[in-house]
Formats: sequence, structure tokens, C-alpha cells
Amino acid sequence: MKKQTGGLVEGKIAVVTGAGQGIGAGIAEMLASHGAFVIVTDINLERAEATAKKIRDDGGEAIAEYFNVADFPNVKKETERLASLRGRIDIWVNNAGITGTARVEDITLEDWDRMQTLDIKSVFFCTQAVFEIMKRQNYGKLVHISSMAGERGGRSSSCAYSSAKAGVLNLSKCFALSGGKYNITSNCVCPGRTLTAMAQGLSWLTDPNDAPEKTIPLCRFGTPEDIAGAVLFLSSDISSYVTGDVIDVNGGLYMK
Ligand SMILES: NC(=O)c1ccc[n+]([C@@H]2O[C@H](COP(=O)([O-])OP(=O)(O)OC[C@H]3O[C@@H](n4cnc5c(N)ncnc54)[C@H](O)[C@@H]3O)[C@@H](O)[C@H]2O)c1
Repeated sequence: MKKQTGGLVEGKIAVVTGAGQGIGAGIAEMLASHGAFVIVTDINLERAEATAKKIRDDGGEAIAEYFNVADFPNVKKETERLASLRGRIDIWVNNAGITGTARVEDITLEDWDRMQTLDIKSVFFCTQAVFEIMKRQNYGKLVHISSMAGERGGRSSSCAYSSAKAGVLNLSKCFALSGGKYNITSNCVCPGRTLTAMAQGLSWLTDPNDAPEKTIPLCRFGTPEDIAGAVLFLSSDISSYVTGDVIDVNGGLYMK
């Protein structure tokens, strides 16, 4: 994605978690193509470096940093470290996550705790850490990647996953309520069926009954770029009066 001039987030400093691949990489590339300096973070530093290099090769600005969203004792310190790299953080995208496919009958305590740790506890504590930085700046855009499963229940993904993603929809509203007076917005994007590595383990990818031309009004699965477009809007000042809200990016598969 080549860098454009006069982009929607020109001069902003953005952090994207889990941006070594998939939707996170797509978001990092989209924000950079619209002028943000992107701190590409992941637990897989090699993949984060590859995303940052691609951005630089396309004329954008990005660096890669190791950041584990679930390293709770260090999340606050590490978030402050990320802020110190460019002096501020204008945009924070909570994208990192994992999924699971166990049926309700089969979910174990371990599955449940793992999903809650990676898919909601991490989102809360990362947001709490960056919220302090954004308060000091009197400016911030928080964007959380939830899921269509968080809105309508997990079908190919497990209840442990969908419940965590439902919680993200709610915590986003809590930060919207607390952040308004500091010029901080907090919103969610709910992807539908999106072609990434995560999708490889999910039944909709291969089940003929779930073929997109049969089930999705726009007749195709989503791409990371599709999701990134909504994140760009919520990260930019053209959405300055939007907070506590949700954008569904699912090709019309689920209409509220
Ligand atoms: N792909 C879909 O169909 C789909 C649908 C709805 C929602 N989502 C959500 O979108 C987000 C991105 O999903 P994706 O499909 O790109 O997944 P993915 O598995 O392709 O990528 C996830 C990235 O997160 C990173 N990550 C994992 N644990 C981490 C940790 N502890 N700290 C930091 N980074 C970590 C991984 O290294 C990887 O780079 C997730 O929150 C996912 O739940 C995806």
C-alpha cells in the first residue's frame, strides 16, 4: 500500500498490536499509507520487522518492537517505553488475539482462561496503560478489534472466544465513557470471515455450506485491507464525534 500525500492520519503516532501478520499487518500498512508513523508490535519480532520493512519499502514510516499484550506485570512499563520512542501515542489498535474452536460441551478451564487472558484481559490492561498516556496528551484514538462472534455468538469459533470478544465491545464503551473529557475516543471494529492465518482452523473456510457466494451478501470473504479501512476511519479526526460505537465489516453476513 503506497504512502499517499495528505493522508487521514498524517503525522500521528500509531501502535498496532499483533501486527506481524494478518489483520494487524493490514491495519499497520493502511495507517502508514495515510501518513502515520506506525510502531508495529508483536510477540513475533521477525514478522513485525517484515511488516515494518514492507511499509518503509512503500514510502511509509514504521519500526518494529517486541510487545507481549499478555505480559501483565510489564504492560504499563512497556507501553510507556513505546510512547517514549516518538514522544507520544495518538492511536492504539488492540488487534492481537487468538481463537479456539471447542464446542461448548468440550471447553476446558484451561481453554477458557487462555482465551480470556489473550482476548479480553490483555485488551483491558493495554488500554488502561495507554489511557494514562492519552490523558496526558488530551488526545487519543482507541480502536479494539472484536469480532462478529462477539455480537452473535461463536459458530465456527468457540464460546470462550466469542464471550471474550463480547467483553471487548463492553470495555470499549467504558473507556469511551471515561475518555470523552480527555478528547479520547474508544470504538470497536467487528470483522466477519477474514482471510488470515487464524481462519485456517475455522470451519467456514472449507465447509461448502459456508461458501461465500451462498452466505455472504457481498459474495466473498473479507481481507485485512477491508478491516483496516474501518480502523483508519476510527483512528482519524474525521470520526472525532464517534465514540463507544462499533463498525461491522462482514460483507453483510450479519446485519443488526
Ligand atoms: N480472521 C478472522 O476471520 C477474524 C474474525 C474476527 C475477528 N478477528 C480478530 O482479528 C484480530 C487479528 O486476527 P488475525 O486473523 O489477523 O489473526 P492472526 O492469527 O493471523 O494474527 C494474530 C497476530 O497476533 C499475534 N499475537 C498473538 N499473541 C500475542 C501476544 N500475546 N502479544 C502480541 N501479539 C500476539 C500473533 O503473533 C499474530 O501476529 C484478532 O483479535 C482476531 O480475534 C479475526
